Amino acid sequence: MIILKTPEEIEYMRAAGKILAACHREIAKLIRPGISTWEIDQFVEEFLAKHEATPEQKGYSGYPYATCGSVNDVICHGFPKKDPLREGDIVTIDMVVRKNGWLADSAWSYAVGKISPEAKRLLEVTEKALYLGIEQAVVGNRVGDISHAIQVYAEAEGYSVVRDFTGHGIGQQMHEEPYVPHFGPPGRGPRLKEGMVLTIEPMLNIGTYHAKVDEDGWTARTRDGKLSAQYEHTLAITADGPVILTKQ
Ligand code: MF3
Ligand code: CO
Repeated sequence: MIILKTPEEIEYMRAAGKILAACHREIAKLIRPGISTWEIDQFVEEFLAKHEATPEQKGYSGYPYATCGSVNDVICHGFPKKDPLREGDIVTIDMVVRKNGWLADSAWSYAVGKISPEAKRLLEVTEKALYLGIEQAVVGNRVGDISHAIQVYAEAEGYSVVRDFTGHGIGQQMHEEPYVPHFGPPGRGPRLKEGMVLTIEPMLNIGTYHAKVDEDGWTARTRDGKLSAQYEHTLAITADGPVILTKQ
């Protein structure tokens, strides 16, 4: 069942999204060679506490941390680690923020110091894929129109689109219907309606889209060890078009 949100409920989600976006802006300033994803996770815990918000991922299905910190070949759900990030790494920080009972979800990939031209292009294309998906999030379109726009662009740029993880509806629960794949045919899936709130969160890989999960049961990596990037926003579908609730 798809739970439509009232304008008032969307305002609550926007408040969660604002905190999340502000947190990402601070993370952008912290990211440099030598800092660890564990330190970033600590920072996020403190930042959210200061804003009277809570990290929804912590304890979700047993996930142990406030954030996911996914380095290089890690696609998503990487555990924060004390190993320092190194010049040339790329790292995706993903978090879900709860404020006054309502959620927002956003992931962002960051460059650590100077990165290779290959890594830089992957980041640029993945971010653009997100925005091309968001453009399709208009009343009357279907979920598949979002999926298709992302896949066509990503593959035209020479990247593969991860199949195993999707965007999703979100509200008072982290994962609601509809699920939003980042690949697939246009014109299929649920029709988009005013009041739907979704995440779009494409993960693009330089090599194969196939993933494998580490012994920890969470960390998902590319099977070929090549780089993966991800950008995610939470957005509301309104009569005036998509409204990004986690805008930085
Ligand atoms: N924010 C992510 C999502 O899109 C990841 C959730 S990780 C988990 O769903 F640990 F919370 F499950
Ligand atoms: Co999400």
